Amino acid sequence: MNQQREKFSSRLGFILISAGCAIGLGNVWKFPYITGQFGGAAFVLIYILFLILLGLPILVAELSVGRASQKSVAMSMDVLQPKGTKWHYFKYFAMAGNYILMMFYTTVAGWMIYYFFKMASGGFVGLDKDAISSIFGSMLSNPVLMTGYMIIVVLVSFGICSRGLQKGVEKITKVMMVLLLLLMVVLATRSIFLEGGEEGLRFYLTPNFSALKEFGVLEVLFAALGQAFFTLSIGMGAIAIFGSYIDRSRSLTGEAVYITILDTMVALMAGLIIFPACFAYGINPDAGPSLIFITLPNVFNAMPGGRLWGSLFFLFMCFAAFSTVIAVFENIISFGTDLTNASRKKVIAFNLVAIILLSIPCVLGFNVLSGVQLLGEGSTILDFEDFIVSNNILPLGSVVYVLFCTWKMGWGWDNFMAEANSGVGLKFPKAIRFYVQWILPVIVLFVFVMGYKSLFFS
Ligand code: PHE
Repeated sequence: MNQQREKFSSRLGFILISAGCAIGLGNVWKFPYITGQFGGAAFVLIYILFLILLGLPILVAELSVGRASQKSVAMSMDVLQPKGTKWHYFKYFAMAGNYILMMFYTTVAGWMIYYFFKMASGGFVGLDKDAISSIFGSMLSNPVLMTGYMIIVVLVSFGICSRGLQKGVEKITKVMMVLLLLLMVVLATRSIFLEGGEEGLRFYLTPNFSALKEFGVLEVLFAALGQAFFTLSIGMGAIAIFGSYIDRSRSLTGEAVYITILDTMVALMAGLIIFPACFAYGINPDAGPSLIFITLPNVFNAMPGGRLWGSLFFLFMCFAAFSTVIAVFENIISFGTDLTNASRKKVIAFNLVAIILLSIPCVLGFNVLSGVQLLGEGSTILDFEDFIVSNNILPLGSVVYVLFCTWKMGWGWDNFMAEANSGVGLKFPKAIRFYVQWILPVIVLFVFVMGYKSLFFS
């Protein structure tokens, strides 16, 4: 347990891996479909506001706890908390969150690989809109196929993690992130100029606040809160771990701003790719989780060179998903190595099996177990697991981080400031202490409670 902790080899490595953890299916799959469900631009505006007002300070808090403790969330509070306090119980909540996230994430990542192969092998060529939708449906009804792809995701990701932090995680993720950023710019440019896409741009970029009333303001706020925390990976120590892999040469606020900007850019660009395409091909943007799978193959079919562009698109979806799965696996591995004396290899072997088994319910939720509709008519096990993480664990866990960093009976403001601000770069503004300590948690809790009320009791 006392071996030297392996570090990232460079600052760029740290930023790209943290951004890789943040940038994932949340940006390229969830953000577009939630935006579509909640009426477009007004939702986007609230989401961005939440990112800046709530997400950014919480991100700094998490990275600080990681760097100061030099541990994953499994041990970080044990190291930093004042003697006799109970903050360390948070680990169970946070660790559960990381596992539940992977319980559905691996399945959706598997869909991306399936679509990549299908696209690359010409499986969509010449199909019309209905035929394309039915491909998605028949994938969902095939548990063996989905399990197979899910297992590939788990094996490849743990395989990369098993090569170590620098040689595995850092090396591979760095390359994937750079390619992903380039590819997105190209595809967004392509989509914006589609004929008939202007209406999509309007839907996406011109806020229409009356749409908010239609969905219920509180529900929209609740969804935006969940999405903002989900996309930044905050609230359960997933990103804190990367704070433990860097030294004190850079202040953490500056790094958090970079991560947030990269993450937001990718989400916004995903919207730019998808909404013009929806409107250009007459597909309703409120289709939900199936959105990109039933929209985009149409676009690529109608585009010169579409098979190539489509394959590249799903390839970048795979990169985004893998960079997150690898990051969360790294975190899960460090739970094992922080809490026990087991070797990295043993911890990986155990979790490989555990995560495959845990991912099965999500796969079966679309076929064998489709009768399990815990969130109401038509909902799936995936929806339920996502709801537990995005709308419960992340907001509540974020509040715990903020209180831990600002309260005297926690790690405390002075320690937090010293950690966040050591190194060169942007400093955390001292003047916003009152806001961070009192107003921010109240906003999060308010939206949380009211969101529940309007979802379940109205
Ligand atoms: N931010 C990741 C995404 O956008 C998801 C995630 C959430 C990862 C929470 C870790 C923790 O896909």
